[in-house]
Amino acid sequence: MNEVPRIGIVSALHDELAAVLQRLPDEQRAPVAGRDFWCGHWHGHALVAVLARVGKVAAATTATILIERFGVDRIVFTGVAGGLAAHVRVGDLVLARELLQHDMDASPLFARHEVPLYGRARFATDAALSDALARAAQAVLARPEATLGAGVTREFALHAARLHQGLVVTGDRFVAAAADSAALRAALPDALAVEMEGAAVAQVCHDYGLPFAALRTISDRADDSAHVDFSRFVARVASPVSAAVLEAYFQSL
Ligand code: ADE
Repeated sequence: MNEVPRIGIVSALHDELAAVLQRLPDEQRAPVAGRDFWCGHWHGHALVAVLARVGKVAAATTATILIERFGVDRIVFTGVAGGLAAHVRVGDLVLARELLQHDMDASPLFARHEVPLYGRARFATDAALSDALARAAQAVLARPEATLGAGVTREFALHAARLHQGLVVTGDRFVAAAADSAALRAALPDALAVEMEGAAVAQVCHDYGLPFAALRTISDRADDSAHVDFSRFVARVASPVSAAVLEAYFQSL
């Protein structure tokens, strides 16, 4: 456990974590606080992989343990998100350059969305780590068939999938009504996607001065037309895509 540096890999989904663990030759389980942390190597780089768990508190606890107990020197988060901006479609990737808690509201004491005592609503991700992840994501999107096979690529129209970069918003709510996503778009017009953990992990990494990057595959449009088969999308598309992007990232180190 004294080896440094070690990269923290946080997966939002069981399937995603399984796809990561499949690629590690030597993972060891280390249980802490009801979570299984997996210490291993990928392309010779030490990492600790873990499931985020769902929601801001659970994800913040997971991130804090990664930092305090496992001494990771950066955190990379992968998962799925609902598309908010009109041009963000199912199958696209969104790389967070900033994250914000859309359900934070201590007004009138503080401005809407501002996290009290931080003097800010938005937490930036690390530029260099995000750039590296963006390159890895572009490489995967350039050849979706290599990751997903021709059938799945065609079924989900992934030859047209794009990488977007910008604001991702987080809250303790699965957004599944058109009225709710419209309200988010009105309040936060530059938001690309919505999920349930990213801004919490970004805030923890901010507190510790740790580089953080977050990549999400768009699984739905955060409206009433939920994806036909969410679990199938996660198993067939989101998990292999995350693993392939991480593979390209570790190869590039
Ligand atoms: N993760 C994936 N889709 C989501 C949605 N619509 N709302 C919140 N988190 C999500």
